Amino acid sequence: MPPETVDTTAAQAYEDHLVGPIFGPWAQRVVDLANPVPGETVLDVACGTGIGARLAGLRLAPGGHLVSIDNDAGMVAVAERTANIAGPTAGVTFEWHALPAEEPALADGSADLCLCMQGPQFVSDPPAAMAMIHRALKPGGRLAASMWSVISDNKGHYALARALESRGLAPAKKPFSLGDPQAARALITGAGFDIVSFETDELIASFASAEAFVDGVAAGAPATRHALAQLSPADRKDFIADVERLLAPYAQAEGIELPTRAHLVLARR
Ligand SMILES: C[S@@+](CC[C@H](N)C(=O)[O-])C[C@H]1O[C@@H](n2cnc3c(N)ncnc32)[C@H](O)[C@@H]1O
Repeated sequence: MPPETVDTTAAQAYEDHLVGPIFGPWAQRVVDLANPVPGETVLDVACGTGIGARLAGLRLAPGGHLVSIDNDAGMVAVAERTANIAGPTAGVTFEWHALPAEEPALADGSADLCLCMQGPQFVSDPPAAMAMIHRALKPGGRLAASMWSVISDNKGHYALARALESRGLAPAKKPFSLGDPQAARALITGAGFDIVSFETDELIASFASAEAFVDGVAAGAPATRHALAQLSPADRKDFIADVERLLAPYAQAEGIELPTRAHLVLARR
């Protein structure tokens, strides 16, 4: 699709409302775990709005190559323009492609590192995506990935799910579909990787209010925004009141502080 016809509304909302409080801090954890070094070739799979490339790019200077792919052309368009606004990273080359994770984006055996941050559970065919990543890596190359833990550990989304279910509406299941650590490990070892480290950690996501959280997710979250779209406009006020009540334990003077929990994995081909 030519760039001017790509709808970037949801992707820009993801970048504006969710990367700062939720996805950015987790991306930093994954990049720290991956420890990219100057000159490396890095593939970022399911790149979203490109937070992985922006963070890893800083570590690759003064040279290196970053290839970022996502099957949502809107995400890729926002990723490319946001990286350009952030300014070029000296000597690092960036490529952006609207491509599914299940298809090769690089020649076999050419990547030093693959990032897949909050991606493995979202892609259409997780085993095929992991197989693609395994093939793209050099022997000994590393995979650094993150996946949400179970939904009950992710308090904001848990409240949304409970408020949706109380109305007979289905919550989004995909974001938490690799919450079981055994399932997450099996996906990675099943593609032939050796797991170097696997940890489950918690970070706090801060929002100005429960309403700001609901609005941000409704505008930009890849799966949950579709679940929230089932709500009738007339029910919005009551829905937000329910979410506020469910999130009352996390209310602070300045807003809400929502625990989020995810698995962080470092593996080698
Ligand atoms: C929760 S976002 C994570 C984005 C980014 N890695 C981050 O940490 O901000 C999940 C991403 O997976 C992408 N995605 C879903 N299915 C995909 C597929 N089959 N191939 C590539 N990307 C896919 C979505 O478009 C979305 O950008």
